[in-house]
Amino acid sequence: MDLLVIGGTVFVGRAVVDAALARGHRVTVFHRGQHGESANPDVEHLHGDRTTDLGVLDGRRWDAVVDTCGFDAGTVGASARLLSANVGHYGFVSSVSVYRDWPAVAVNESGRVKEMSDEDAYGAGKVAAETAAEAAMPGRVLVSRPGLITGPNENIGRLPYWLRRIAQGGEVLAPGDPDEGRQWIDARDLAAFHVDAAENAITGVYNTVGPPDQFTMRELLDACRDVTGSDATFTWVDGATITAAGIEPWSELPVWLYDGDADVSQTWHVDVSRARADGLKARPMPETVRDTWEWVRAGADLGGYRSQYAVPEPDPVKEKAALNAAR
Ligand SMILES: NC(=O)c1ccc[n+]([C@@H]2O[C@H](COP(=O)([O-])OP(=O)(O)OC[C@H]3O[C@@H](n4cnc5c(N)ncnc54)[C@H](OP(=O)(O)O)[C@@H]3O)[C@@H](O)[C@H]2O)c1
Repeated sequence: MDLLVIGGTVFVGRAVVDAALARGHRVTVFHRGQHGESANPDVEHLHGDRTTDLGVLDGRRWDAVVDTCGFDAGTVGASARLLSANVGHYGFVSSVSVYRDWPAVAVNESGRVKEMSDEDAYGAGKVAAETAAEAAMPGRVLVSRPGLITGPNENIGRLPYWLRRIAQGGEVLAPGDPDEGRQWIDARDLAAFHVDAAENAITGVYNTVGPPDQFTMRELLDACRDVTGSDATFTWVDGATITAAGIEPWSELPVWLYDGDADVSQTWHVDVSRARADGLKARPMPETVRDTWEWVRAGADLGGYRSQYAVPEPDPVKEKAALNAAR
């Protein structure tokens, strides 16, 4: 199969490239060239800014495309329209953030989605992009809606935060309820699902994350301690105390959500039965933790990429304040 990846050089896209190459497919990546090139000499690189210039794609043929970096209708619609005559299948990486009622409600794929008038421009933009892709290539689009994505090359630094902090050892601020379940998807499993879909012409909308209650927060932090060989101890502190100490849930203390009075109780209960029935696999959490730690120890090279959502380094002063407040 000839596969085009729009993006493909940072995290999810890189995993798609690796999965496709491992299965013997020929891969082209289309990106601006701002964040490195694939180290694999077998990958063809086409350079261009997808928002302004798709000319280099014009007239080329691929069996399928995986679009990992689309955030609005105009951009995604333009690439899907241009490719529609010469590409059989369009895989689009969307997000579980499209749902209007999540995380207060445990959604499946028929949940209400956001509109452009909604506050969350990211989720609404993804909805519009999904619609634009389907309009350009009706019946030939696979939309994946991942939740939290982790694994080697993770460009936001959520799991790397915990690995780095726990590797430092000592008393670690552990947020919320230790027994609350989590669900995430390793980018390599998401990539495998996209390549499967391209190979088998699977279309439609799929939530793509691990099963609800895949693991607990306690199990995650324990796995980080095991893999780093750290002497860390965990002090579990409730959300109100942590936020009173000036720590932002999620952005400063990742893989943990607390929103005061708002209902976020179903954050980790996205229904994934459709994707699992059609082949989505979620590897065991400790495997993701182990491989990500290897990548962090090797320098966590992202080719100069820095996400606007990147998690800051652990802040020992704020952490100590929260721990003291909890005593
Ligand atoms: N992280 C999460 O937990 C999470 C959760 C749900 C959904 N998602 C979605 O998953 C996807 C993650 O993407 P990723 O960053 O891992 O993808 P990626 O494909 O690995 O990296 C982004 C790629 O897009 C290219 N790119 C960016 N702007 C471009 C432009 N204007 N024209 C052409 N190429 C451009 C970048 O290369 P250049 O910069 O060199 O152009 C890079 O190759 C996103 O769509 C995100 O919304 C993420």
